[in-house]
Amino acid sequence: MATRAARTRFACRECGYESPRWLGRCPSCQAWNSLEEFKPAVPALVSSSPRPQTLADVDRSPDARARTGLSELDRVLGGGIVPGSVVLMGGEPGIGKSTLLLQASHRFAEQHGPVLYVSAEESIEQVALRARRVGALSRALSVLAETDVDAVMTAACAHRPKLLVVDSVQTVAASDAEGPAGSLSQVRECAARLTRLAKAEGIPVLLVGHVNKQGLLAGPKVLEHSVDAVLYMEGERHTQFRTLRCAKNRFGSTDEIGIFEMAEEGLREVPNPSELFLEERAAGAAGTVIVATLEGTRPLLVEVQALVGPAPFGGTPRRQVSGVDYQRAAIILAVLERRCGLPLHSCDVFINVAGGVRLLEPAADLAVAVAVASAHWDRPVDPGTVVFGEVGLAGEVRATRRAERRAQEAAKLGFRRCVLPRANASPVVLRTGIECVGVATVAEALKAVDAAERR
Ligand SMILES: Nc1ncnc2c1ncn2[C@@H]1O[C@H](COP(=O)(O)OP(=O)(O)OP(=O)(O)O)[C@@H](O)[C@H]1O
Ligand SMILES: [Mg+2]
Repeated sequence: MATRAARTRFACRECGYESPRWLGRCPSCQAWNSLEEFKPAVPALVSSSPRPQTLADVDRSPDARARTGLSELDRVLGGGIVPGSVVLMGGEPGIGKSTLLLQASHRFAEQHGPVLYVSAEESIEQVALRARRVGALSRALSVLAETDVDAVMTAACAHRPKLLVVDSVQTVAASDAEGPAGSLSQVRECAARLTRLAKAEGIPVLLVGHVNKQGLLAGPKVLEHSVDAVLYMEGERHTQFRTLRCAKNRFGSTDEIGIFEMAEEGLREVPNPSELFLEERAAGAAGTVIVATLEGTRPLLVEVQALVGPAPFGGTPRRQVSGVDYQRAAIILAVLERRCGLPLHSCDVFINVAGGVRLLEPAADLAVAVAVASAHWDRPVDPGTVVFGEVGLAGEVRATRRAERRAQEAAKLGFRRCVLPRANASPVVLRTGIECVGVATVAEALKAVDAAERR
């Protein structure tokens, strides 16, 4: 589409905040000196009148998705890659973005035909070294080490791949756009050109994106708006697990996650993550409990750990939380203090979720409460018990969705008891074959897991 330049605007390099004038400090992320000038391109007025179509006449088979062959990636994408779609994958440096996309490219090439992998960050030799290590040596997979976006587009038009991967959108540049590669105007322009290519030629494009200090995709926010799906690869770099989450998806749910394990031969899919997360659990230790959580439609059993100790005299008690939301953890500690009588105001509290997993749903609340109480009393929770339930400010335990699925997963993995919200302890759940103990309050839950006896 033809474009014409509009009035100059300014956008924050860190968070994408846009302003009509320059500011020394970004009002959104508070970063200093982060606003950069750019010229937004606006669509030119088209002289010939466009012809609207009725949707029923648009020829598009509903199931045109192409599976990548990595089922964990396909799950997050909503079943596979839609032709002509643009997917942006973000993640911290070294988390495994290039590895995953190289493996996906290989599998895709084996099934569907030519794939063009553009490496703008690494030399062909570096990519080849990785390809050999992860076994991505399909004859239909071609690699191009190129940083000029127009050269990439020319190669894509000549090669006509079934999938184009660009690693990364911050390192390619358009020679006729302002600024160095990675600057706002360059990222914006390159993404726009590649998106146009995807839509015009029907070639799906996978873009790698860097994340900034806040963990968000670096570059203009408009980048996230203009692509069809945004995936984030997460995980502690020092644990072997990697989680693929979906922040946006025009063609599927954003609830699903994919779980991988980083190994010598690349990222290995983890079809049954619960077993893996429980492998190294500290069964029988005080301060740990298993939560039955749900990621998308998939139940996941993970270990929540807590450590509670006296705070240094006169000092502020420390609260260190990893894997669960800090604000939710603060609420749970307040509930334990006010509703269950635990004197946590004078204690340091550390909370962690094993395996680098991030628990986002409120159903993990009860497990945090139980783990902290167990750590405080130094009394282990029965290792055959799993818990789940949302905790309210009155100390009540609220119902969660799909309790039956969670209880089933716990039963499958050999757990004997499930402490769950009373409202969920329906006959259906009770039929799962696991002993279900319905609780209405956190205090009841603590009694049920046997952590409250030696107070
Ligand atoms: N020989 C190896 N054996 C096992 N794991 C390796 C090996 N080489 C690299 N890795 C893993 O791969 C990771 C790097 O993966 P990759 O280069 O795909 O990350 P990336 O997200 O693309 O990084 P960047 O942002 O720098 O491009 C390393 O952090 C390491 O965990
Ligand atoms: Mg990389």
